[in-house]
Amino acid sequence: MNATLPKEVAQDIWAKDRQHFVHPWTHFDSFTEEGSLVMHQAEGVYTVDAEGNRYLDGVGGLWCVNIGYGREEMAEVVAEQTRKLAYANPFVDVTNEPAAELAAKLAELAPGTLNHVSFAGGGSTANETAFRLIQYYWGCKGEKNRKHFLSRKGSYHGSTYITQSLTGKPADRQPEFEYATDFIHHVAEPNVYRRPHEMDEEAFTDFLIADFEAKLKELGAENIAAFFAEPILGAGGVVVPPQRYVEAVHKLCKTNGIIFVSDEVVTGFGRLGAWFASKDVFNIQPDIITCAKGLTSGYQPLGATIFSDEIYDVISAKGHDRWFTNGYTYSGHPVACASALKNIEIMERENLLDHVKNDVGPYFMQKLNELRDMPTVGDVRGKHLMACVVNVGNKETRETLPDEINIGKRISNAAEKRGLLVRPVGNLNVLSPPLTITRTQIDELVAILHDSMSEVVEDLKKQGISIE
Ligand SMILES: Cc1ncc(COP(=O)(O)O)c(C=O)c1O
Repeated sequence: MNATLPKEVAQDIWAKDRQHFVHPWTHFDSFTEEGSLVMHQAEGVYTVDAEGNRYLDGVGGLWCVNIGYGREEMAEVVAEQTRKLAYANPFVDVTNEPAAELAAKLAELAPGTLNHVSFAGGGSTANETAFRLIQYYWGCKGEKNRKHFLSRKGSYHGSTYITQSLTGKPADRQPEFEYATDFIHHVAEPNVYRRPHEMDEEAFTDFLIADFEAKLKELGAENIAAFFAEPILGAGGVVVPPQRYVEAVHKLCKTNGIIFVSDEVVTGFGRLGAWFASKDVFNIQPDIITCAKGLTSGYQPLGATIFSDEIYDVISAKGHDRWFTNGYTYSGHPVACASALKNIEIMERENLLDHVKNDVGPYFMQKLNELRDMPTVGDVRGKHLMACVVNVGNKETRETLPDEINIGKRISNAAEKRGLLVRPVGNLNVLSPPLTITRTQIDELVAILHDSMSEVVEDLKKQGISIE
């Protein structure tokens, strides 16, 4: 990686950004004051800002740069495909080579009979497609009563109207927005750490299953179209659901004909040491998998909805003379699909799934668990390279510190100063580094996080804030 941007240029970029770029999840008060951190370059697991400060990217971009930054092969495949065929209309009956190849490759990698792929521009639109596909499927089947959709409190499924309505994370549901509430319903969040004090884990699992059953009863299982679930709730704070609950809820869906959608936008493509986590990690076969992010490792925007033979056979039955009027100008974009194919090829060649599953994944969780000795760390949770540190004010009662202390952000600021990017989500710090990370880099990450937490704890003490 080479030199920094000249100071005036860096300043100009910062000012233009602050003036004109309205970012996802802008917090206007702080943004107007502070503007953005301008990123300039990246290689491997490190990014460099416009002033030349280097960071270990503990967030992997945004859970997406799975193969790491600066891959020459990825640059080449994008350039080559751009020269050859930059775009092809995907509507109706025109295609392109990378889109067809990638659809076949995803059918090969996905579990069971998930052999059919609809492409989108990212995770939200992949979930939108899943939603409409399900409506279409039930319509074709003649079960028009199946109008209700379930998802979980604490979940994140995207930022379009429907996917924000499916999202159950309270912090993302702003009162200024309207949400679809008459046909989208949320069941309990499977957050074992936040279970009521009087319940042990087994009792909490029973409660979660009973809550799901109660929702089926309330709406009438025959009126429910689908259940959307992340294998591990990501943006909601890396919540790993109890295995018995996952299997029970999946079974309830199966026995009641409810379509099970596994939102693998984060968990897909190696983050949990598997192409997809639903079958290989949680032992359940979904009807639909949605994915994005790691599909191209963030080198190009792309999402996919991969669905079963059973759904395909219904919607494509001969003689119906129907149109599945869903899709986007950039569905199956040749450059994005070429990028995904190369990304998958790199993962296969470098055995990255094995590297995560048998080496760095367990090591990362082991090292992060050492942070439990810190006075503010109430919980460390996750699997492989998807993890989260839960900061609390009282370990015994699991009480959080007051919101205005903004502990997650304070820790991420302290880490940033020391050359580490970690993501603050309320009182949590979330981590999802590139899959290429080494044990030495994990040691570096955890050491910086430890020092950053120590600094914040000292500051809190100086402010007279008690931590127990
Ligand atoms: C589980 C999950 N689903 C969907 C999305 C939305 O993806 P995108 O931001 O690419 O639209 C995200 C984004 O973080 C996600 O974490």
